Amino acid sequence: MNNDASNPAMASTSINSFDTSLFAKTTHNPSYASLTKQFSEVNNLRDYCIPVNSYFPPAQVMEKLHEKMGYALKYYPGSNENIAENIATFSGIENPATIIAGNGSTEIISWLNSLFIKESLFVPAPSFGRWIEEPQGLGIELHTSRYQDSLNQYLSPEQLVAEVKQSGARNLVICNPNNPTGSIMSRAQILSVLDQLTELDNIIIDESFIDFSAENPPSIKNDVADFPNAWVLKSLGKNVGLHGLRMGFAISNETNIAKLRKHLPYWNVNGITEMLLHLIKDEQATYHESRLKTIADAVYLSERFEELPEFTIFPTHSNFIFVKLRNDINGTQLRDRMLQNHGCFIRNCGNKLGSSEQYFRIAARPAEDVNYLIAALKIELAVLTKIEDEPMLHANLINNGAV
Ligand SMILES: Cc1ncc(COP(=O)(O)O)c(C=O)c1O
Repeated sequence: MNNDASNPAMASTSINSFDTSLFAKTTHNPSYASLTKQFSEVNNLRDYCIPVNSYFPPAQVMEKLHEKMGYALKYYPGSNENIAENIATFSGIENPATIIAGNGSTEIISWLNSLFIKESLFVPAPSFGRWIEEPQGLGIELHTSRYQDSLNQYLSPEQLVAEVKQSGARNLVICNPNNPTGSIMSRAQILSVLDQLTELDNIIIDESFIDFSAENPPSIKNDVADFPNAWVLKSLGKNVGLHGLRMGFAISNETNIAKLRKHLPYWNVNGITEMLLHLIKDEQATYHESRLKTIADAVYLSERFEELPEFTIFPTHSNFIFVKLRNDINGTQLRDRMLQNHGCFIRNCGNKLGSSEQYFRIAARPAEDVNYLIAALKIELAVLTKIEDEPMLHANLINNGAV
């Protein structure tokens, strides 16, 4: 058995026993822990699902974090206000009093959904699941419109404002750039949306991926507090490459922040996150470099996908690409075969409102990992295309349990 790990053609096809039934049990994706049986089979899994910064934090930060871990575990963390100050320094936000820190930005999303968003919400789809499923679960009326293939998944501010007004929704969430489409609006466009929708109760601009959109990201982080009804939400896990830590925040005017703070558990952010934020707060230069490398990885990924005529590639402004598979190839089969035969974990968007199993979000990774992915895709696409072209072969493969 040949297990050359750098070449999918040489790697054994029987090395993986990932449980693909896990996909049906969640509207997100199975966790890395569940797929690897609590990290006991990590080596075989290559993650192209979670868009994360591969070049941060620097090794010396991780060394210091390990050194001091005992303290972070033993003692209570500081207040949310202290933590917000480190976030402000790291993220270049002028007024720390406009920041509230969360146990991951998902915590803040839940607070916004349950405390601020009442009656109805407009979210262009597809979007991040917590902005769709949680409000629906809370009985909030969801209004939505579709990002279109024919418009390259781009949504213009004019169209957005018109659709929101027409829907009568009281609240709006827009991810900028959007997950999973990768489309973006400029800072001026977002500000014009805010100017035109002052009658709404809340407008939330989720900028979780904005640091990977350009060298100078079009963030409204230092403008948002000027609006009475606007929020910026940001996940930090993606930016600093550590999702497991749970780090995120929201920015709004001081009145909104004070209102939200009253509901927050006092120590909602854990001591390890607090320590990490302290260690990275002056690492802006290293962080900037890591962002640029990540952006370059996304460009390379997009270019390499051009070798696969089975996919349509949409323009991206983030650290992932959004692609559509030819309709006559089964997207779920491709996802499962990539996992089982090559250990490549890719995000099929079949469980997202406004998407289908033909769409994939592929996370940018260093070139070597992208090379592996493309080689593995070529192998599986050749098999699946052959299956489509030759129904008898398809039947035989099903009988042999290969599909
Ligand atoms: C657009 C968007 N916002 C927020 C989040 C939540 O991130 P976290 O809770 O890890 O900060 C995600 C996660 O994928 C996301 O895609």
